[in-house]
Amino acid sequence: MKAVILVGGEGTRLRPLTYTTPKAMVPVLNRPYLAHLLAYLASYGVDEVALALGYLPDRVQAYFGAGEALGLRLIYSVEERALGTAGAARLAACRLGARSNDPLLVLNGDIFTDLPLDRVVNVHRAAGASVTIGLVPVADPSQYGVVKPDPDGRIRAFIEKPAPGTAPTNLINAGIYVLDPSVLDLVPPDRFYQFEQGLFPALLGAGAKVWGFSWSGYWIDIGTPEKYRRLNFDLLSGTVASPLVPRIENRQCYAGEDCVLDGAAWVGPVVLGNRCRVGGGATVGESVIWDEVRIGPEARVIRSIIGRGCRLGPGAVLEDAVIGDNVEVGAGVCLGPGTRLGPGEVIAGRPESI
Ligand code: GTP
Repeated sequence: MKAVILVGGEGTRLRPLTYTTPKAMVPVLNRPYLAHLLAYLASYGVDEVALALGYLPDRVQAYFGAGEALGLRLIYSVEERALGTAGAARLAACRLGARSNDPLLVLNGDIFTDLPLDRVVNVHRAAGASVTIGLVPVADPSQYGVVKPDPDGRIRAFIEKPAPGTAPTNLINAGIYVLDPSVLDLVPPDRFYQFEQGLFPALLGAGAKVWGFSWSGYWIDIGTPEKYRRLNFDLLSGTVASPLVPRIENRQCYAGEDCVLDGAAWVGPVVLGNRCRVGGGATVGESVIWDEVRIGPEARVIRSIIGRGCRLGPGAVLEDAVIGDNVEVGAGVCLGPGTRLGPGEVIAGRPESI
């Protein structure tokens, strides 16, 4: 089966991490996030995938190559300018050689889920639908496009961002679609065009069969720092498993290779990348630390994401911070909640070595 993954966005909500690392390559349990998504597709028998790329495509191509390591055939559809979700899917499906009557999977490239893809495809075929959309419940649907399917699953309308308390359901579009590739002929070529505001309303207007498949298992999009951390911690607690790594249960600290941990205290879950060093008396909790980070003695890192190669001096304090690659924070510096530092920034502190 063929699939398209949309990974061309700039990931603005994950800045400053995404200034140097595209969202598809941010580490989740020390593997690029996209490797987990590709393993999920492969576990359902998907064997050919087109990655629709735009922003920082080289990092993705250099890492995944032709896809051999994951047992897939990968092709790359690189856009010269952003085409939007439907425009990007149209181009990538064309490059993949997707054919009418052969259902095509299209996924947003920033979701992690255990939604059963085989069941969505079965529903799609049984209904004879043009498009079947994965639907998931959320606590507050007021920021999303909300869907109220008929009892048989047919969708007749989308309600965009309903006022709080007025949504007819809490089901939203999960960013997983099964399409008959012929519907992509309705997408105008070479211009920005979206599924949600463009193709889906056009299909409903034309009376096409648009179906929904509701799933109340695990689903998260890693588009914000909070949700990116949450996915890492859900994998550590065993709330969800990745097909890429053996199931984990109740781990507090997940450390990569060649880390030196000099008696640090973990408060809440922590993922540490490869070749990290954490000094004695440091406190680290609810944080994701990328490769080659050094955290000095007595430092405190809480609810933060620390990019590759950063150095935090002795006694430095970071809470609710997101720090790009290769940042240096000097000894004794305290950075308040909400701090964002771009790649390579240096915040001088006490004159002690890091
Ligand atoms: P933000 O800037 O933080 O909103 O992130 P984003 O634009 O990367 O993600 P968004 O949630 O808006 O988009 C959902 C998915 O579609 C993400 O996986 C994006 O990479 C992808 N995407 C969005 N627009 C495009 C596009 O024009 N081309 C391609 N190839 N992918 C896109």
